[in-house]
Amino acid sequence: MEQCTGFLQGDLEVKEPVLNAPRVRNLINFTPLRYPGGKGKLAAYVKRLLKDNNLLDGQYAEPYAGGAAIALELLFHEYVSEVFINDISQHIHAFWDSVLNHPENFCKTIAETPINVSVWDKQKAIFARPNEHSKFDLGFATFFLNRTNRSGILNAGIIGGRAQAGSWGIDARLNKDELIFRIMSIAKIRHRINLFNLDAIDFMTEINPSLSDKSLIYLDPPYYKKGRDLYYDFYKHESHSVVAKFVDEHLKKRNWIVSYDNVPEIKNLYRNHRFGIYAIGYSARSHGAGSEIMFFSEDMNISPLVGAVKAIEGFGIQEILTA
Ligand SMILES: C[S@@+](CC[C@H](N)C(=O)[O-])C[C@H]1O[C@@H](n2cnc3c(N)ncnc32)[C@H](O)[C@@H]1O
Repeated sequence: MEQCTGFLQGDLEVKEPVLNAPRVRNLINFTPLRYPGGKGKLAAYVKRLLKDNNLLDGQYAEPYAGGAAIALELLFHEYVSEVFINDISQHIHAFWDSVLNHPENFCKTIAETPINVSVWDKQKAIFARPNEHSKFDLGFATFFLNRTNRSGILNAGIIGGRAQAGSWGIDARLNKDELIFRIMSIAKIRHRINLFNLDAIDFMTEINPSLSDKSLIYLDPPYYKKGRDLYYDFYKHESHSVVAKFVDEHLKKRNWIVSYDNVPEIKNLYRNHRFGIYAIGYSARSHGAGSEIMFFSEDMNISPLVGAVKAIEGFGIQEILTA
């Protein structure tokens, strides 16, 4: 159980040397991690929800943070004052812990580490035996594999294969300059990021009493159907059901949203809650198997869907069509 809070801004001297980044530059993507099932495309919608529910400048918590793309965007765009991010994965936590506590060293390591198959093998060996290495080395190995594996899936193979014969090479997704820039940008606001490495329910139990009324909790648990393929830590049916029960019993007075793959088992677990169905990065096929579902806490205003997502059902579609 670990929590990194209360960073002093003065702890960190964000010096220039590691980076050759130009001085004036905008962040467009915020997280250094590629995340299978990452919810960055829902950031615009979460912003809209915060606005429509008078939650601007409050707190935002993600019990299943993964790449934390939304949390970071909300901070960088000043929609919330602080975020609480949690993930049970020892690897993902080691990454965030290293970025938040040792950003300069992390960036220096990125700058100095060659990107090739023999380094990949070395990082893979560290990743496979997490308890035999420092948290920093594990955090870096997680980052390296996330950026050099196919689709960012931690147990997938190398982009371009061991032979590196294809048109995409191992370094295709590891743009050092850009990733260093993201990490140093995160470092500058790290005093507003509270990091946890708990089971989601323990995390919510711990932070619940200290959250203000102006807060939003976004639960994005491992997918019901695809979770086993995508994450090292996934749930069986019983765990999904325990989470749904926890939400019902302990988050009654909170503003929360939950997102999942749109499957009957999940609809049944959250049957007492309002929902909307949508497709992320949608294509012609996404009306069927690819759709996702979002449930809302009782008193929340459900905003119309905005951003690079497509509403399929709910989200005030009727209102929009008849307006
Ligand atoms: C769907 S992903 C979250 C993706 C994230 N919303 C993003 O945009 O990057 C689910 C995450 O839950 C984490 N996880 C799995 N079981 C957990 C548990 N019991 N408690 C907390 N986190 C868990 C996994 O490690 C994974 O990172």
